[in-house]
Amino acid sequence: MPPRQDTTPRLPPRGAFPDDFVFGAATSSYQIEGSGFGGCGRSHWDDFAAAGNTRDGADGSVACAHILHWERDLDLVKNAGFDAYRFSFSWPRIQPAGRGALNAEGVSFYDRLIDGMLSRGLLPFASLYHWDLPSSLAVAGGWRERDTAYRFGDFTDIVMRHFGDRLHSVATINEPWCAAWLSHYWGEHAPGMRDLVATARAMHYILLAHGVSLSVMRDYGHGNLGIVLNKEYGEPADGREETLTATRLFDGIYNRWFEEAIFLGHYPADVLALFGAAMPEGYESDMALISARLDWAGVNYYTRSVIELDADESCVGFRCIRGDLEKTAMGWEVYPEGLGFFLRRLSGEYAPGLPLYVTENGMSRDDTVVDGEVCDVERVDFLGRHLGEVLGLLSEGVLVRGYFAWSLLDNYEWSLGYSQRFGLVHVDFADQARLPKLSWHKFREMLNSN
Ligand code: FCB
Repeated sequence: MPPRQDTTPRLPPRGAFPDDFVFGAATSSYQIEGSGFGGCGRSHWDDFAAAGNTRDGADGSVACAHILHWERDLDLVKNAGFDAYRFSFSWPRIQPAGRGALNAEGVSFYDRLIDGMLSRGLLPFASLYHWDLPSSLAVAGGWRERDTAYRFGDFTDIVMRHFGDRLHSVATINEPWCAAWLSHYWGEHAPGMRDLVATARAMHYILLAHGVSLSVMRDYGHGNLGIVLNKEYGEPADGREETLTATRLFDGIYNRWFEEAIFLGHYPADVLALFGAAMPEGYESDMALISARLDWAGVNYYTRSVIELDADESCVGFRCIRGDLEKTAMGWEVYPEGLGFFLRRLSGEYAPGLPLYVTENGMSRDDTVVDGEVCDVERVDFLGRHLGEVLGLLSEGVLVRGYFAWSLLDNYEWSLGYSQRFGLVHVDFADQARLPKLSWHKFREMLNSN
């Protein structure tokens, strides 16, 4: 009998990437730490969940109890062979009321966490805001208010003062589209609003917060600063002129709003026309700050949307549906070509010469433990296909400098609670056991190969 062929999907070999290409795993504070531990203040996600807006009422008060288990979690990053760890600072853990007094326990947690990365030889890639806005600021109007951007500047100053010289790289905001549009127009994330005026304000003030934060960090002389943008490819449902225009508007809201503001210093005309008088007065004078020079840009990429006209949608006139490609447990279509599209567009049109990172990429799967193993072959295939896309871009000369898998751990997937598993490592939420999945082992194989 001929030997059975190993049909398990593979990741490309490490040696196919440049020597200094950074491989990492990503997480975020609210999704893993456990907001109930260590004197952390409330965030609007605690409030959003308490008001019944999440699946099964789930919140992040325990999550992966990373506050207690961070050492073994960092060991999992290190032992897989990753070069870097992407994490976020929880604003309410450091500054519970969003202004004023600090929580000493929170500051010392990040001290230990960052030192733990450095002692393991892991590069700390930090984000300053991955959505856990302190409740007291949310109550005062959150991202609908200009003042929140300045409070974020103060928070940035605190982080720089305590940790700045130990951070390899810092991103201001993770996914401003989610913090603004998804949270204020579609109401799916905290604070769960459905209001165009609120949305226009949040779309601008979250970018002002980015600009203010960036200028604070420049004053500290930090030289590796960026922002993390989520990108979703829009595919028109049909070839009608109106559908193509709607798809372009989708791209404007989701993608170009941020790219044009940050790299060209103005907002796209079609989206501005949609917001009309809802835009905050005098926003134009913030554009210089918003478009200040960056050292890199990060792209979080998961899927595409199919754009269909929708007469009931009185404002944007379209809705996003899923097409007929293979889907993940989230119902998201697998479409690696979209990743190539955005990285090419950034390097060609918006930010030629700027180093780019894939700061998140991954999939949810109904992972179960069978005989002590999680055999997530579809995830290995997904990651392999997206890494293949990156290899293609590198061969075209696109400046992709690194790739981060989302996520290190199964964790709190926002309004979907604990129903979606994105981890390379399985988490048993009953006893906090960690079990590396096949995908983690495949990374380990890859990162130790040539
Ligand atoms: C991204 C978020 C991240 C996680 C993944 C699945 O939009 O940045 O926190 O929820 O999606």
